[in-house]
Amino acid sequence: IRDDKDTASAFIASYIIDRIKAFGPTPSKPFVLGLPTGSSPEGVYKNLVRHHKNGDISFRDVVTFNMDEYVGLPREHPESYHSFMYRHFFSHIDILPSNINILNGNAPDLEAECIAYEEKIKRAGGIELFLGGIGPDGHIAFNEPGSSLASRTRVKTLAYDTIVANSRFFGGDIAKVPRMALTVGVKTVMDAREVVIIITGSHKALALQKCIEGGVNHMWTLSSLQMHPHAMIVADDDATLEL
Ligand code: GLP
Repeated sequence: IRDDKDTASAFIASYIIDRIKAFGPTPSKPFVLGLPTGSSPEGVYKNLVRHHKNGDISFRDVVTFNMDEYVGLPREHPESYHSFMYRHFFSHIDILPSNINILNGNAPDLEAECIAYEEKIKRAGGIELFLGGIGPDGHIAFNEPGSSLASRTRVKTLAYDTIVANSRFFGGDIAKVPRMALTVGVKTVMDAREVVIIITGSHKALALQKCIEGGVNHMWTLSSLQMHPHAMIVADDDATLEL
């Protein structure tokens, strides 16, 4: 538990850097990092970029897999997760473009795209550390309430609450928010050797409480983290109000 979002973000960025350095990635054995979008990780990216600019960390031998992407939103749209990632992170670091993996929400065959993504993760040797956030309804990536805890990468229809929550990125107009997304599954995240989740703000307090004090439950998909052997939630004070 950290005092606020800034200190939580700085802590996670330093933690990730330490993990990458301890791993000692090489071109033949890169560090495989799972990454989220949303407002929660923005501060983490800002700190990672700052450390990179200070010469503290290189991402040359880091391979990334993003969690999710909207279906049907052009890649160049400012709110596509592709644009988000370049704007906040990839454009500011030395990662090789060929090491960046983001689901293509405009693929002609979305199911094939999802299957290929899982295979690519497997070929990369699995994910070493998956960073994530959660929605106020406890969803991880776009694994909305009711998602199977055994789920893999697939097409998902967004819950109404998520459409409303994410409309803030679309000028508050829910009609502009895509209705579907491609998302890694709960099991895809849980298969990572380590999972780190950032949860900040009082609007996430109920979700945090349900996910860690409630039972493992597909209505609060992050609750599956309770079964993970190497997981950490970094919360700010406000997010702990219901604990
Ligand atoms: C979206 C993303 C999630 C993210 C959630 C919370 O639904 N698919 O991965 O955790 O938003 O976003 P924020 O951090 O902006 O509250």
